Amino acid sequence: MDFALTQEHQLIQESAYKFGQQVILPGLAERDRAHESDPTMLKQMAESGFLGVCMPEKFGGMGADYISLGIACEEMERADSTARVVLSVHVGLHSMTLLQWGTDEQRQRWLPELASGRRIAGFGLTEPNAGSDAINIKTTAIKDGDYYIINGAKTWISLADFADQFLVITRLAQTDAKAPYAAFIVDRTTPGFSSRPIKGKLGVRAGNTGEIMFADMRVHKDCMLGQEGDGFKVAMSALDHGRYTVASGAVGIITACLDACNKYANERMAGSEVIGKKQLVQQMIASMAQGRDIGRLLYQKVGWMKNNEMRHTRECSLAKWTNCAAAFDAANKAVEIHGAYGYCDEFPVERYFRNSRGAVIYEGTHEIHTIMQAEYELGYRQDKPLAVTLPGWPYKG
Ligand code: CAA
Repeated sequence: MDFALTQEHQLIQESAYKFGQQVILPGLAERDRAHESDPTMLKQMAESGFLGVCMPEKFGGMGADYISLGIACEEMERADSTARVVLSVHVGLHSMTLLQWGTDEQRQRWLPELASGRRIAGFGLTEPNAGSDAINIKTTAIKDGDYYIINGAKTWISLADFADQFLVITRLAQTDAKAPYAAFIVDRTTPGFSSRPIKGKLGVRAGNTGEIMFADMRVHKDCMLGQEGDGFKVAMSALDHGRYTVASGAVGIITACLDACNKYANERMAGSEVIGKKQLVQQMIASMAQGRDIGRLLYQKVGWMKNNEMRHTRECSLAKWTNCAAAFDAANKAVEIHGAYGYCDEFPVERYFRNSRGAVIYEGTHEIHTIMQAEYELGYRQDKPLAVTLPGWPYKG
């Protein structure tokens, strides 16, 4: 067993940290307050190679392993959740699922464009009336010769107004409750596609979230990922990748909380001593450090399992569940330590508090992961080996 980061991991850690400091943080407080995205951030993420960090070199990626993706998410979210969300949807939910389920032709067609950031990608599973119960989605894809006609709507879609293409999960019949599922890569330029932003979010305010809608959208059968009937499995595989990025990013929020609190607690006086000397403040700091280090072990184990092509649904759910709860708890404690200053955006901890709340909900709520973990433990849920696996690292294809 080797817990040490490789030289490549350390380089990625350093460059993702610098990216956060030099690209994400300048002007962020104003953008967050104004609910505005940075129009240049995607381009800069593409130029730095992060949009293809764990994609094989054969497909134009950096060729780094899956632990590197986790490290990049951690360091990016240490600056702000918006950049990590881009990695979650573009790399995790979309590109990695395409690498897992795509034919060689589909991989060659899309992955180099995505790894270079020439195209940006999103993911659509959740609908206005189907969230945790993803099984109840209503978007349909009805076969018409070599095409499928897609109708429906997806909500809470990150990059809804910016992504060039989306991985969309559909049903293959309108009325049949047992209709099989199918997954498609759809292009936003297809007639019948539209999007609109969701306004007034609690957190991730400098990031774009919205709805995407499909009205009689004709999509060629070549754009189907997997076969008819594979759609739900494609969706669940995508969540194995997305949840990994959320779990690793959550550790970055805890680190950011500690960065802010260690500084504040060593400067802020209460009577004759700094508040860092107060035992109740120390208790909160210790608990935050505990969440950070446990969280890092949990997500890096999942990254290692991905590298070794092992099924990791259970471990990934555990990491997402534990780390998101720990990040929200750390952000709450960080506000507490800052006192009244933690309640306004003069200090970053109120942003960490708002941003960390979302991750407890998306990519499987706290309750869904609690139930999954209980079911695994009680023997009601078992992970069978997958028929279609994410290629391990290094890529051998
Ligand atoms: N990889 C591949 N296949 C998988 C899989 C995986 N990780 N997990 C399950 N499957 C397969 C199973 O093997 C099974 O196939 P068989 O019938 O052939 O055995 C099939 O998929 C169904 O799996 P389950 O029996 O586990 O399905 P379930 O109905 O019990 O799942 C659930 C219940 C786990 C709660 C699931 O519905 C779930 O995860 N819900 C939460 C959905 C979610 O996280 N939504 C978030 C969407 S994305 C997002 O959040 C972005 C955003 O909004 C901002």
